[in-house]
Amino acid sequence: METVHKTIAAPTGTLNGTLRVPSDRSITVRAVLLAGIASGTSVIHHPLDCDDTRACMDVVGALTQSVLHMSHEKLGVTGRGLHGLRSPGKALFCGSSGATIRLLAGLMAGQPFGSTLDGTEQLRRRPMRRVSDPLRSMGARIEDADGCAPIEISGRSHKLKGITYTSPIASAQVKSAILFAGLYADNPTKVIESAPTRDHSERMLASMGVTIVREADADAALWSSMLTPVTTLNPLSIAVPADFSSAAFFMVAASIVPGAKVILRDVGMNDTRTGLLDCLLAMGASVEHDNPRFEGGELVADLTVSCQALSSIDVGGDLTARTMDELPVLAVAATQAEGTTVIRDAEELRVKESNRLEGFVTELRKMGAQIEPTGDGFIVEGPTPLHGAVVDSLGDHRVAMSLAVAALVATGETTITDAGSVSKTYPGFFRDLASIVS
Ligand code: S3P
Repeated sequence: METVHKTIAAPTGTLNGTLRVPSDRSITVRAVLLAGIASGTSVIHHPLDCDDTRACMDVVGALTQSVLHMSHEKLGVTGRGLHGLRSPGKALFCGSSGATIRLLAGLMAGQPFGSTLDGTEQLRRRPMRRVSDPLRSMGARIEDADGCAPIEISGRSHKLKGITYTSPIASAQVKSAILFAGLYADNPTKVIESAPTRDHSERMLASMGVTIVREADADAALWSSMLTPVTTLNPLSIAVPADFSSAAFFMVAASIVPGAKVILRDVGMNDTRTGLLDCLLAMGASVEHDNPRFEGGELVADLTVSCQALSSIDVGGDLTARTMDELPVLAVAATQAEGTTVIRDAEELRVKESNRLEGFVTELRKMGAQIEPTGDGFIVEGPTPLHGAVVDSLGDHRVAMSLAVAALVATGETTITDAGSVSKTYPGFFRDLASIVS
C-alpha cells in the first residue's frame, strides 16, 4: 500500500454539511460471497468499493470463473449454485480482509476441491484458529500456519456434520463462518454466543430462502443462531446502507467540534452495530434520527449530529460488543468529555488490524490524551486539551480515522503517517472530511 502522510488542523470555523458515507463493509462482503453460491444472478446496489471488498470480489470472481464488474451503483454477480464453484487453481488472496478470509473458510470447508486462503502480512498476523477449530469439528480438514493464514482446506467427497457450537469468543466472523459451512452439512448447525454479534449473515441468508432461527436468552446472556441446510439459495437483490462504523467518525467529530452540525444519510442502524450511538446519547450527545426505514432487511435512518457538552461513560459487556469497532473513536470523544470514561471487556481490540488496546493508546497519548490501557480496555480522563503531533496509523484504517477526528479538536497541526490505510474501508475519508470543514 502507498504510504501517505496526511496533515490535519482544527477547522478555523466548524464542521457543517451532509454526507452519505460509503456502504457497509460487513454487508458487502457477505453479499458478494453468498451471491457466488446463489442459483441465479444477484444484484447488489451501492456495494462498498474499497480494498477489502475488492479482495473479496476477486476471490468470488476466481471461484465463479467470472469477472465481477463494480460500478458505484451496482454489482451483478452470476451465482454458480451451492455446488457450482470451481477450483481457482491458485491461492485465494483475501488482501487484508479478516471477514473475507474467515467467512470464506466456512464456504471452502464444504467444497469438493481443496483451497488455499491467504492474505497480506497484516492478515497473516491475525488469529484463524477461532474458525479452523470449529470447522474441523464439523469434519473439515484444515491446516493453518500456527493458527494463522495461509489456511489449507482439503476437498471433501461427503457432507460436513451439523454441530452445536458454543463460541468462546463473541465474534460475528466466527459465527458466520460456521453458518456458511452449515449450508454444506447433513444436519442443522447452531452457534451459541455470550454476547449479541452482528447478524447480517442471518438476515441475508433468510432473505435467500434459508431457515435460520435466532434466539436470545438475555437472562442467561446467550444468543443463538440455528441454520437448516438447503439445496439452493435464491439470488439476492439488496441495497447496502451506509456503514455505521464509517459514520461513527463523523458522529464523534460533530459531537466534539464546537458549533458543528453534520447530517449523515442512509446510515445502517442494525442494533447489533449501534453501540456507539447508545454511548454518545448516554454521554449527552445530540443525535436526531429521521426517516427510519427498512432496506434489504436492515434498518436505515438519517442522523443529524450537533456539538454538545459530553460527560464520561462506563462501557462493558454487551455494549462493548456492540461498539467494538468504534471504541478507538469513542476514546477520542472521551478525551473531550467531563469525567473518567472506563471501557471494559474489550480484549478483542488486541487482534484487530493493529493492537488497538496498546498501539492506539500510545498514538493518542502523543496528542496529550490522558488515556491508560487496562488489561481489557482503557481509562480516559477528560476533558483534556489535545495538541497536534506526528502520529502513526499503525497500518490500521480505524486508528487513522480516529486520530484524524482527534486532530479536529487539537491545537496546531497533526500529521498522520501511513494515512493511506483508510482505503481498507473508506478510500475517500479525507476528501469527505475536508468537504464539511467550514
Ligand atoms: C466483522 C465482525 C467483527 C468486526 C469486524 C467485521 C464482520 O469482527 O470487528 O470489523 O464483518 O463480521 P469479529 O467477528 O472478529 O468480532
